[in-house]
Amino acid sequence: MTASRSITLAEVEQHVAHGDLWLVIDGNVYDVSEYMDDHPGGGEIMLNAAGKDGTDDFEDVGHSPGAREQLKKFLIGTYAGGESTVKNKSEKGKNALTTGGGSGAMTVLLPLIVVLLAVLAAMIGKK
Ligand code: HEM
Repeated sequence: MTASRSITLAEVEQHVAHGDLWLVIDGNVYDVSEYMDDHPGGGEIMLNAAGKDGTDDFEDVGHSPGAREQLKKFLIGTYAGGESTVKNKSEKGKNALTTGGGSGAMTVLLPLIVVLLAVLAAMIGKK
C-alpha cells in the first residue's frame, strides 16, 4: 500500500469508533480498526488517541521497534492536518461560560435584595 493519499483532520475525525479507528502517528495515518482487539495495550487506550494527532500518545508508551514495524501494514496515507469539524468541544465551553456568568450575577444580586428587604422592614417597623 502506498502512503500517497493525503488525509485531513476532518476525515480522521470520522473514524473514532471501535472497529473503525484511524490513528495519526508521525505525520502518517493508520487504519488500525483490525488491530484493536490484538493490541497488547488494549483497544480502549487506542481510542483515546483517535480524532487527533496521536503521536505523543504512541511515543509516550515507548513502543518497541517491533511495534513500529507492525504499524507499516496499517498505513493508509499521509496526514494533512486542517480544521477540526467537531464543534461540540467549543460549544460545551461556551455553555459553561454562560452558566457561570448567570450564577455570578445572582451572587451579587441576592445579598442586595436581602439588604433592601431588611431596610424596608426596618422602615416599616419605625412607623
Ligand atoms: C497511539 C495509540 C496507542 C497507545 C496509547 C498505545 C499504548 C500501548 C500501551 C500502554 C502498551 C503497553 C501494554 C502493556 O504492557 O500492558 C502498548 C503495547 C504495545 N503496543 Fe501500543 N499503543 C498505541 C498504538 C499502537 C499501534 C498503532 C500499534 C501497532 C500497530 C501498537 C503496538 C503495540 C505493541 C506491539 C505493544 C507490545 C509492546 C511493544 O512491543 O512495544 N500500539 N501500547
